[in-house]
Amino acid sequence: MSDVNERLAELAQIGRVEHGIDRALATPAERAARLRFATWARERGYSLTQDRVGNLFARRKGVREGARPLLVGSHLDTVKSGGAYDGAYGVVAALCALEALDERNAETEHPIEAVAWVGEEGGRFPFACVGSAVFTGAFDAERALALTDSEGVTLAQALASSEGGLLGDVPQREDSRVAAYLEIHIEQGPILEREGVSLGIVTAINGQRRYRVVVNGTPGHAGTVPMARRGDALCAAADMIHTVERAALSTGECVVTFGTLVVEPNAPNVIPGRVAFSVDIRSPEDARIEAVEVALRDAAGDVNARRRVAAAIERLQGHAPIPMDPKLRNAIARAIDPLGERVIDVPSGAGHDAMLLARIAPSAMIFVPSIGGRSHVPDEETSPRDLGLGVAALTASIIEVERFVV
Ligand code: GLV
Ligand code: MN
Ligand code: MN
Repeated sequence: MSDVNERLAELAQIGRVEHGIDRALATPAERAARLRFATWARERGYSLTQDRVGNLFARRKGVREGARPLLVGSHLDTVKSGGAYDGAYGVVAALCALEALDERNAETEHPIEAVAWVGEEGGRFPFACVGSAVFTGAFDAERALALTDSEGVTLAQALASSEGGLLGDVPQREDSRVAAYLEIHIEQGPILEREGVSLGIVTAINGQRRYRVVVNGTPGHAGTVPMARRGDALCAAADMIHTVERAALSTGECVVTFGTLVVEPNAPNVIPGRVAFSVDIRSPEDARIEAVEVALRDAAGDVNARRRVAAAIERLQGHAPIPMDPKLRNAIARAIDPLGERVIDVPSGAGHDAMLLARIAPSAMIFVPSIGGRSHVPDEETSPRDLGLGVAALTASIIEVERFVV
């Protein structure tokens, strides 16, 4: 079996920048990572397919004619200045698990496919989990292909280009039937490390809503326009951000992030005329997300009434908390038991492709610890031992799960 650590180290060189790794969807680096995955899969004799948006599947044959595949995967794209494990680990671990099945000469009823979903992070094109959303029918392929990045490039154009596009020699996938879905991922939070355990079985993925807020004000001279006459878009945005942060704190068990903010014209001596910022609200309970969304809308109403600006909110994406399949969770627990490790149940604060797959097939996730609970940062790390243990847990889970799914 090829070493999961070596492969992750190799992928970590693809898209390396001064601070971390940049592998946004349909960029040369992200395509190179897909190509690396395809090369590894071909070397081991797995057959490859890709779909219209670039999701890539490496198939290990099953013995039952016509059986639906068990998909096992994650994503190869990263956030801006991201780390080496978020997503990449789940893809590499899936491939290593297929190889482990080969080494045992294991026959499975179902084909087992290692999958690299595209665009999980939603950084370049404003839609998270775009690949798995299209695959599962949650998001229309045409609408996905029409998404534009900040430069006005559509996803269709990016996927047609030789730099970031589809892989030339991989056949088109037609089939979206799935027997079940498994995903292993780094936890990205502190629970496993705090509890001193190396494996977690995910109970549910927290709910999430994403928005774009645009505040239009009036640009003007920084020295001459009296404060009382200003329509300062940035000061209005700052009011909104503080109000919504306080709302999340008082709601409890809810997190809110304003990860992007664009100020126009962005000059020291010009009153900001237009500000666009993102809002990402998450919680294990939908009602809490709703309460913070209400606070966001009220905050927009408030600045519009008080500040000579027009703030508008666009909801881009959202889902309620998504439970993982109880039968699969039990099967994973049974499968992992012989490894002799203590295993705990954990919620997922981060979003994952599994939440889309759960719409069409029984789906479950395994977590391994993140050192210091850190993720979406260059120093995101998981110990080599835990990465290896995760592959063993995933391999055992595949064998257990594929026995009873239809
Ligand atoms: C993906 O990592 C997300 O949770 O935003
Ligand atoms: Mn991820
Ligand atoms: Mn991520």
